[in-house]
This record gives sequence, structure tokens and C-alpha cells, in this order.
Amino acid sequence: MSVAKKEYKRVTVKSVQEMKENGEKISMLTAYDYTMARIVDGAGVDVILVGDSASNVMAGHETTLPITLDQMIYHASSVVRGIDRALVVVDLPFGSYQSDPKEALRSAIRIMKESGGHAVKLEGGKEIKDSIKRILNAGIPVMGHLGLTPQAIYKFGTYTVRAKEEAEAEKLKADAKMLEKCGCFAIVLEKIPAHLAKEVAESVSIPVIGIGAGSGVDGQVLVLHDLLGMTHEFNPRFLRRYMHLYEDMTKAIGQYVDDVKSVDFPNAEESY
Ligand code: KIV
Repeated sequence: MSVAKKEYKRVTVKSVQEMKENGEKISMLTAYDYTMARIVDGAGVDVILVGDSASNVMAGHETTLPITLDQMIYHASSVVRGIDRALVVVDLPFGSYQSDPKEALRSAIRIMKESGGHAVKLEGGKEIKDSIKRILNAGIPVMGHLGLTPQAIYKFGTYTVRAKEEAEAEKLKADAKMLEKCGCFAIVLEKIPAHLAKEVAESVSIPVIGIGAGSGVDGQVLVLHDLLGMTHEFNPRFLRRYMHLYEDMTKAIGQYVDDVKSVDFPNAEESY
């Protein structure tokens, strides 16, 4: 079913709320640098997430834990310089908000001041409620993140589907309600059963954006490098690849190497 799209010159937290109310699905994608942000924004993506997945795809770490607040600010400020329309949400990295609400607020303020991002995202439910409230009280929009929360990977032990058991599903539903009540403007649900994600999206008035959470939510998010097929070893079931850039780029770069070696490049027209 397709719904008429309203034109937004600039997407704000109010716009994404309106999209939910109008039944228009919200598109969200990660970006970590200026050039990619220009392309993603120009293609009409509503929300750009400067995700701490930068730790994996940009820096080559196995988990999202090592990325620092300074590094997130560097990525986010590059993205902000590349956008005209999208709402830019920036992940608070591991260790920048878990110890106490004052530290969480200080970290969120640094992101807003130094990167120019429009909102922050934090992973977790009632354990971080006080930090979320503190940030919201300062006028900074907050997006929640429940389900598979990669910053807690060492607690979970694996990246498998979360909240399949009753107790975890009940906690997730209660956490989603709490995030809505606190004043979060949206929630990401990662890798949970589709029926549970749909139930949560229908039970809260704020937008719910899914990744590996089925189609019954209010929008979808993917990691840009996965969508473009640059990360060819990563093959979760939820991922739809729209390109196969790993193969295409390898071929193009291999051709360049051959052309340099054979002195085919540069030719007369490519020389001064
Ligand atoms: O860091 C990230 O890219 C994310 C998305 C997977 C939602 O948090």
C-alpha cells in the first residue's frame, strides 16, 4: 500500500511524527562522512543516523564499543556539512552515558554543540531512564534503541534475534512505553520478531523504526555500507543489498592496477 508523500524541505522530529500519523513510512540510513551524506541526503532519505556502527564499517573494529565521543563528533560534523534536508541523529557511544545522567547530558551537549547534529540516540530501557530525562530536559531530542543493542554484545554473547522469550518481550514492551512517556521522539527496534515489533509500533504514538524487525513498524533503517554491498561478509537475513559494490569496486580498482602496469593509463588525452 502506498501513501501520498508530503514534501518536507527539512525533516524535523515533528516531520517524522507527522509521517507516522499520516501512515507514511520513514526512511533512515547511516552515513559517516561528507561525501556519502551528500548522496544519501540528495536521494531523499528522511533520517540520517551517524551510527556507532562507524566503529565497525569505518574503523574495522569487531564491535561498536571502541569508538569514542570525539570520533563520533568528527563523523557527525562531516555528515552535517553534507546535508540540506535530512534529520541527523547521532549515536552516543559506549561509555559516554552509562555511568550517570550528568555525564550523559555532558556527552549529548558536546554532540549537539560540536557536530551540529539534530538529535541523539541511546541504547537501553529503564536502566538509562534518568539519563534520557536529563538530556530531554535540556531540549535535546532523544531516539531510543531497544532489542538487539550492540553496545551490550558482551552481555548477550551473540548477535541473534532478541526478545523471543516472553520475559524479554514483556520488558521490551514496558521499555518502549517508558521511552514514549519520557518524551523520546522515536525508537529503533533491532532484530526482534516481526509480530512483537508491530505490536510495539501500534502501542506507542511515536515513530518506531525497525532493523530486522519486519514491516509492521513505521520506518526502516539499514547500515549504508551493507545496503550498497560493500560489506560482503555480513549476510543477516534482514539485509537487502541494492548493489554489490564490493565486487564492482574490486573489479574497477583491479582494472586501474592493470592499466597502470601496462601503461594504458594515462593515455594521450589524459595527459597535458
Ligand atoms: O549504529 C548503527 O548503525 C545503528 C543502527 C544499526 C540502528 O544503531
